[in-house]
Amino acid sequence: MQDVLDKKARDILRANDKGGFTVPTSGLYPYQWNWDSVFVALGFATFDEARACREIETLFEAQWDDGFVPHIIFRRYDPDYFPGPDVWQAGSDIPTSGITQPPVAASIVNTLWSQSDATQIKDRLAALFPGILAWHRWFHNNRVPDDAGAVVITHPWESGRDNSPEWDAPASNIDVSRVQPYERRDLQHADAAMRPTKLDYDRYIALVEFGRSTGWDHALIGKSGPFRVADVGMTMILLRATRDLIDLASKLGRDDALDELEGYLRQLVEGAEFLWDEEAETFCSRDMITGRHSGYLTNASFLHCYAGVGNAQQREKMVGHWDRISAQANFMMPSHDPGDSRFDAMRYWRGPIWIVVNYMLAMGFREQGFDDWAGRILSDSRRLISEHGFNEAFSPVSGDGSGGSDFSWTAAMWLAWCGAANEQ
Ligand code: DGY
Repeated sequence: MQDVLDKKARDILRANDKGGFTVPTSGLYPYQWNWDSVFVALGFATFDEARACREIETLFEAQWDDGFVPHIIFRRYDPDYFPGPDVWQAGSDIPTSGITQPPVAASIVNTLWSQSDATQIKDRLAALFPGILAWHRWFHNNRVPDDAGAVVITHPWESGRDNSPEWDAPASNIDVSRVQPYERRDLQHADAAMRPTKLDYDRYIALVEFGRSTGWDHALIGKSGPFRVADVGMTMILLRATRDLIDLASKLGRDDALDELEGYLRQLVEGAEFLWDEEAETFCSRDMITGRHSGYLTNASFLHCYAGVGNAQQREKMVGHWDRISAQANFMMPSHDPGDSRFDAMRYWRGPIWIVVNYMLAMGFREQGFDDWAGRILSDSRRLISEHGFNEAFSPVSGDGSGGSDFSWTAAMWLAWCGAANEQ
């Protein structure tokens, strides 16, 4: 069984490999996506380290001069996806989207560098360091305001958690009255009940049209865009990535970068505190326009362990949340609180489980001494894939797959983490 699933996972990565970059799944996502690619590199590394390097190198080939790394790279036009390069009108030599995605690159490059014994591979990974540092600098120049210290997203897609209920209130003020007519393509590939709604899409497109109208001026969008939310997921992920980049800098002898990175780290630790909601007793996202917390508990709230933050009282509250949710959910970790009325077991980021988030959660729980939690996340992830397939996401109630199938990052997580013979 193990061998069959390992082979299937490798076959998925090979089939989704379009020549140096991997699409998340055929049909629904026919281009290169930022954080998908970086997670996928972990999977390739289990059988082809050079191919793993190539995946991240092709992503950084599309980096802009100011350090920004886009969320989609449009190498070959594919009419099957909307909004395509003609709508975004961003990038230069390589057409791209105009927004970014969770910066997991530093963490994964550090992992790949540490686990490789080959000098050639280590050199290729080390060569990515300046680009990753420039991307972190881009975040701090454009998206980490001094008065928050947290990472501000300007489009729900930047979070990677596209339709999380965390965005419902902040997005309700987006003016959709001037959105040009458009045709969704995602519904040709996935069940509408599993995807964001029409209203969500109208808002997504209004924000793309706004960004495009500024010529993708990120400083301007970050200061005056209609959607500006300090995102708990992005903040925890950048915080962790900064720790990992400091570690990598030390290993590479890049001591010249340490002061700058330590400064970023201090800011982000304050940012995590800015996201603690006293009323909801959790870490959650916060609207920068109204100042209000979302008040929602999500799988991103639990990334506090991965980021290495939270004082004793905050951690105690998170233990209470874990106890309640883990008793309620058949599989962990739902992307939204199953006790909340907005929970929807099958709809994208409003309930389903995402194996890449589980990977980060389990790592953080293990490091912070929550071994039982890490064990539960690992065994649930393994069961979900082995019993239900390499889906995009999974219902925390039934385990059924939701979204696309034969999904690259789910296959990668199987190979590198939850299906791996050597349990972590
Ligand atoms: C989509 O098109 O649904 C993507 O998630 C955007 O990144």
